[in-house]
Amino acid sequence: MADSPAQFRGQARLPRFAAPLRYDLRIRPDLAACNFSGAAAVAVAVSAPTRFLVLNAAELYVDRASIRFQDLAPTDVTQFEEDEILVIGFDRDLPIGEGVLAMNFTGTLNDQMRGFYRSKYVCNGESRNMAVTQFEAADARRCFPCWDEPAFKAKFKLTLEVPSDLVALSNMPVVKETVSGPIKTVYYEESPLMSTYLVAIVVGLFDYIESSTSEGTKVRVYTQVGKTNQGKFALDVAVKSLDLYKDYFATPYPLPKLDMIAIPDFAAGAMENYGLVTYRETALLYDELLSSASNKQQVAITVAHELAHQWFGNLVTMEWWTHLWLNEGFASWVSYLAVDSLFPEWNNWTQFLDETTSGLRLDALAESHPIEVEINHASEIDAIFDSISYDKGASVIRMLQSYLGAERFQKALASYIKKYAYSNAKTEDLWAVLEEESGEPVKDLMTTWTKQQGYPVIYAKLNGHDLELEQAQFLSDGSSGTGMWIVPITSCCDSYDVQKKFLLKDKTDKIHIKEFTASQRSDGDKNIWIKLNIDQTGFYRVKYDDELAAGLVNAIKAKKLSLMDKIGIVEDSYALSVARKQTLTSLLRLLNAYHDESDYTVLSHVTSVCLSISKISVDATPDLNKDIKQLLINLLLPAAIKLGWDPKDGESHLDVMLRSLLLIALVRLGHNETINEGVRRFHIFFEDRKTSLLPPDTRKAAYLAVMRTVSISNRSGYDALLKIYREAAEPQEKSRVLGSLSSSPDKDIVLEALNFMFTDEVRHQDSYYILGGISLEGREVAWTWLKTNWDHVLKTWKSSSLISDFINSIVSPFTSEEKAAEVSEFFACRIKPSFQRALKQSLERVRISARWIESIRSEPSLGEAVQELLQGAA
Ligand code: BES
Ligand code: ZN
Repeated sequence: MADSPAQFRGQARLPRFAAPLRYDLRIRPDLAACNFSGAAAVAVAVSAPTRFLVLNAAELYVDRASIRFQDLAPTDVTQFEEDEILVIGFDRDLPIGEGVLAMNFTGTLNDQMRGFYRSKYVCNGESRNMAVTQFEAADARRCFPCWDEPAFKAKFKLTLEVPSDLVALSNMPVVKETVSGPIKTVYYEESPLMSTYLVAIVVGLFDYIESSTSEGTKVRVYTQVGKTNQGKFALDVAVKSLDLYKDYFATPYPLPKLDMIAIPDFAAGAMENYGLVTYRETALLYDELLSSASNKQQVAITVAHELAHQWFGNLVTMEWWTHLWLNEGFASWVSYLAVDSLFPEWNNWTQFLDETTSGLRLDALAESHPIEVEINHASEIDAIFDSISYDKGASVIRMLQSYLGAERFQKALASYIKKYAYSNAKTEDLWAVLEEESGEPVKDLMTTWTKQQGYPVIYAKLNGHDLELEQAQFLSDGSSGTGMWIVPITSCCDSYDVQKKFLLKDKTDKIHIKEFTASQRSDGDKNIWIKLNIDQTGFYRVKYDDELAAGLVNAIKAKKLSLMDKIGIVEDSYALSVARKQTLTSLLRLLNAYHDESDYTVLSHVTSVCLSISKISVDATPDLNKDIKQLLINLLLPAAIKLGWDPKDGESHLDVMLRSLLLIALVRLGHNETINEGVRRFHIFFEDRKTSLLPPDTRKAAYLAVMRTVSISNRSGYDALLKIYREAAEPQEKSRVLGSLSSSPDKDIVLEALNFMFTDEVRHQDSYYILGGISLEGREVAWTWLKTNWDHVLKTWKSSSLISDFINSIVSPFTSEEKAAEVSEFFACRIKPSFQRALKQSLERVRISARWIESIRSEPSLGEAVQELLQGAA
């Protein structure tokens, strides 16, 4: 074993005795036959005695006879498919120092949206293939043999041999092109030091538009032929973001050019390949007439996110996937900074609380994981591109920034980027720089948030003049974990003028309220309010005692609180109710305090809570379900009536978003007038697609309304939607239809929508729209469908994150222990690492709902409260 190739099996990482310095790659894709051939010459530095070279390769055929290290031919070559490694053995130790490893290989342009793959598009009525790469996390090894780990940075020099009439793009600019008949050879400049997962190739037919930054960097957006006008918005955001990041990181954009390109088949939303960023079409293209306000925001955020990676991720790269959150959490956080500066009227930092909310919701599961997570095999990496790495990651960065102050924070980040440019960093390296620049105990503070899963709930109680605080880990199942955090506490009393800031380091602490009270108050004044976690900058929840909670309800009614604080209060209250720390009755009473709220950012959280209550009450209190829905409708209706269905001249972006949000919520809550109006407008739209009665922003609501009225015997609405889907050229429009198809209360229609996913009319990347829309009435049929088709689903959606969508969407809506047991039993012999976490989390959600239901049923005064609130609003 000691001297056999097998010694390298079963390792999380490649051995370090040899490392690549420079790759010279020549690749020739055949778009018709869907395969490719290549030749690699890699300059390798051998730093310790070895007779082996060990690198990654997967699903590649490596021509053994072609392998040479300098002029040495290997004596044994072994490819271990499971470990995705290629072990090349020689008859003696290799000389220490630099040598060139050369080999030829071939592979398949697969249809799995990973590695080197083919995507399909139609040009002039003809179906065509394009060749695209998606290497993150560990799929460069499916395109060429390489040291496929982020820390093995090397320079890349590519040469592509492609059909002469196609556009061929890679990370760097073209230096030379030679045409020989039907094939052209394109030579690219050598790249700076970079990781393998950022290498990219795209070959197909495209048009582009171009602009440049203030530094003169050329920026292009490539689209399908004839669609460049849809790239203008993204191009503008890109140019401005690059200028902004150059200043923010105090480092120029590192490459000579930046291309951004829309790919019709794309597993993620977008990918930050160095100098050649790839996107789903819906995440890059924006059309004034055809896209919605929320499409627009998504494009801006996605572009800003991927471009942030050009510094944070590409220039400075995580040392290993354990530190993935450094990439993703950071890019997510900073994308809000950029978009906020480009579109201040979007109130983007308040919208950031959507991220914090998803992070808090996921991290309240026992089946969550720490931000820094051990990775032992390439197959485990995909699963951590989740809300913990992204949303919790971004939120703890915001928490730290707010604790240190924006200026100090930015200065430290700029020195971090300088210090680790063209190299790699670990989480602790970032803390060290921040600690040095700020003099604050950053490492101790942050380690409690990144190395341990979960977060605390702070119990706050007023005892005389003391505000008493106690922390305990918050879990949605109602138990208390054992975690302890260093919590940056902020608080204010009666106004935002005086704020108290300190670190809660122990289980309990107390502060005198004089420390954060602006005005002199007489003792025993009951009308005060105290808000902790001001503007929700901290990644924790707060449970107030009854007196403090009542004070906050009054403050909400009296419009004393910031938008962010109003969001925090309703989110915390909802989470505490699910965890049975507070009654549904009291949550409903709190919601009532939001009845004349008119702000999109707040109402988006309020509606999400409303929809969840409405769903749980179907199972928990079927008798009360109708009344509860009515109550929630009453809450949202005034704002919806004010906005109406028709856009108004000069109205704000957020009001446009709000209209769509409220109409969709009212349809989901079963509000008849809204459904009828949606159906009416849909019919007009169906006859005249240019009608002004149904612009993109309200279309989804109308589609959902139609689907509420559809059944197998009355299916014309469903068929009409299918027709719209088939006729729509725009992916954003297609996604609106797909997101509605499975929302009918009729089981047979749901089944039909699910089966539609198996046809070649729906791209594999788009299955999650259909899965995400399944009606509550359709859960059983969806589960039966999943069981029946599991083998097919697994085979077709091998790529892991998409597989997880099936489980999440179909399992999580259940609410009984019996169902959880049934699901668990079904998967007992079918479990795979790629969706194991998704399954465990979904099952946990089911059990949490089951317990919530039990507790709701035991609330003595729920019925009475509902009646009282209904009357109050009437
Ligand atoms: N690096 C990711 C893309 C990625 C995701 C690669 C999962 C491999 C696995 C990219 O930067 C990203 O985060 N994209 C986001 C969009 C963003 C706006 C949050 C996405 O794809 O959803
Ligand atoms: Zn990212």
